[in-house]
This record gives sequence, structure tokens and C-alpha cells, in this order.
Amino acid sequence: MKNFIDIEDIDSNQLKKIMAFSARLKAERINISKGTKDFKKYLTNKVVALLFKKPSTRTRFSFEVGIFQMGGQTLTVSSNEMQISNFESMSDTARVLSQYLDMVVLRTDNHSDLIDLANYSSIPIINGLSDKSHPCQVLSDIFTFEEIVGSIEGKKVVWLGDSNNVCNSYIQASNKLNFELVISGPKEFLSSEIKSSPKYQYEMHPEQALQNADLIVTDTWYSMHHTKEERKLRQEIMQKYTLTHDLVNISKKNCLVFHCMPIYRNNEIMSDVADKFFEIFLKQAENRLHVQKGIMKWCFS
Ligand code: CP
Ligand code: NVA
Repeated sequence: MKNFIDIEDIDSNQLKKIMAFSARLKAERINISKGTKDFKKYLTNKVVALLFKKPSTRTRFSFEVGIFQMGGQTLTVSSNEMQISNFESMSDTARVLSQYLDMVVLRTDNHSDLIDLANYSSIPIINGLSDKSHPCQVLSDIFTFEEIVGSIEGKKVVWLGDSNNVCNSYIQASNKLNFELVISGPKEFLSSEIKSSPKYQYEMHPEQALQNADLIVTDTWYSMHHTKEERKLRQEIMQKYTLTHDLVNISKKNCLVFHCMPIYRNNEIMSDVADKFFEIFLKQAENRLHVQKGIMKWCFS
């Protein structure tokens, strides 16, 4: 039994194994309707709770459908329907949930909830996004890159904009999977996790950062956990990091653009650039389903 909380906790061979297994699961579903269960149902007789302290579209639906296809059952609950929104501690909640459930996926605005849940549960815990990281998204992104281009090892990835939770998981992945990662965004927003990372490259000017890039990744300027004041400040300072066609053209000829969605058009990315790469964003979203199935299988191995 294993938890999937952060990419930095997982050995690179294990990450590659998860992606290889996910590719197999994806291949087995070609020409199979979405509501048909997998040939081998790895979650038979398992019940999984999806707990959300924040809104979600992709994470919620991809986990629900994935668990269904794997033969398991889901319970999706918003945290404000639970006693954790009242006064009950995550550690007590963890011990209680372990009596009913086989696994929990948690989305939270406080990463320490995940740590408490993992420390006090006797079942696997998956990080469905926290203020610190978004490992399911980033492993799915790397799977998507490798599906289209081939191995990410040695490639140049540029993160443009707010160095947020998704960016932090990219940093962890670059250390594990040996790709070059350059962060380009306002220095004042570099998170403490990023600043304390043993290995990160920073370039203030996007025109410099994007030279020779194989992949450009951007995301919303303000994440779900940011306050009104933090959002206002970001909106004022981020302007030079909007991804335009001119910026994309600085990178390599066949450079990919990723966005985990939801998109704020004409903020972090111009609407026409988003339209040009939208098919790729859809592949990222689709692969959440396949890669999370690989992650869940790994958690029970
Ligand atoms: N990318 C992502 O995690 O999307 P949701 O917030 O819709 O789950
Ligand atoms: N950084 C964004 C990602 C949303 C999927 C957020 O945390 O809101």
C-alpha cells in the first residue's frame, strides 16, 4: 500500500513504471465505450472517496470515471458537508475513514491536511491538488509529452507565469526525470518550496527563457487558495508573462504548449494561442484519466 502525495517522494523508476502501466491501460481501451469496465478490473470490491475542499472539473470526473472503469465504487463529497469543516481534526477523520474506505483522494488548500490524512490513515491517500503541489496533473503532463514527442529526459521545459502548485510539481519531476526546467515569472512570487529546491533555474525575461524550449507550460495567474489581494497583485505584475504567438515563436519549431486548465484567456495565454494548442490541452485532460488509473493501481501494489 502506498500514498501518492508528491512526486519528490517517489523513485524515478516507479514513476516510469506508473506511466508505462498507464499506457497499457490506455491502449487496452481503444474503441471501447467510456462506460464499459476494463477487461481486468483492478479496483473490484474497492470503495474510494473523493474529498474536495475546492472546486474541480477534470480531477473529479477523471477519477470518478477511472474508478468506475476499474470496477470500484466512488463517494464524492465536498468537505463543507463533513465535520472537518466544523471542528473535527484531519487525524481523527483519517482514522474513521479508514474503517469504511479503501482509498481517499483529497483536494485541499492546505497541504498539511494531506500529510495528516496520510499519517493517520491505514489506506492509500492521493493528492488531488493542494496549495503546494499537483502531482497527478504533472505526471499526466509528462505522459502526454512522451506520447507526442518521446522521452522528456534532456528536454528543455519552460514554466511561464506564477510559480504555483503545478510549477512546484514540475520542479520535483525535473529532478526525478532529468529534464531541464526554467521558470520565468515575477521573482517576488517564487514560492518558498521553489526557493528551497536544490536545483531550479530562473530567468526573469521570457524572451530569454524560451530560447530552444521543447515545451512551454503556463497556468492561471491566481490559484484557488489565493486571497483577493494576492489575485489583484498578480494581475498587475504578471502582464509581461502572457503567452503570445511572438513568445511561442522564440522556442523550437515544434515546441508544445501545455495548460492544465481551467484557462483564463488573455491573462496567462492569449485566446488565439489557446485555440491553436487546445487539442493538446484536451490530450492532457484525457490522460488524467489513464494516468490516475495507473497511479491507483500502483497505490495498491
Ligand atoms: N487541471 C485540473 O486539476 O482541473 P480541475 O481543477 O478542473 O480538477
Ligand atoms: N494552479 C491552479 C491549478 C488548477 C487546476 C490552482 O491551484 O487553482
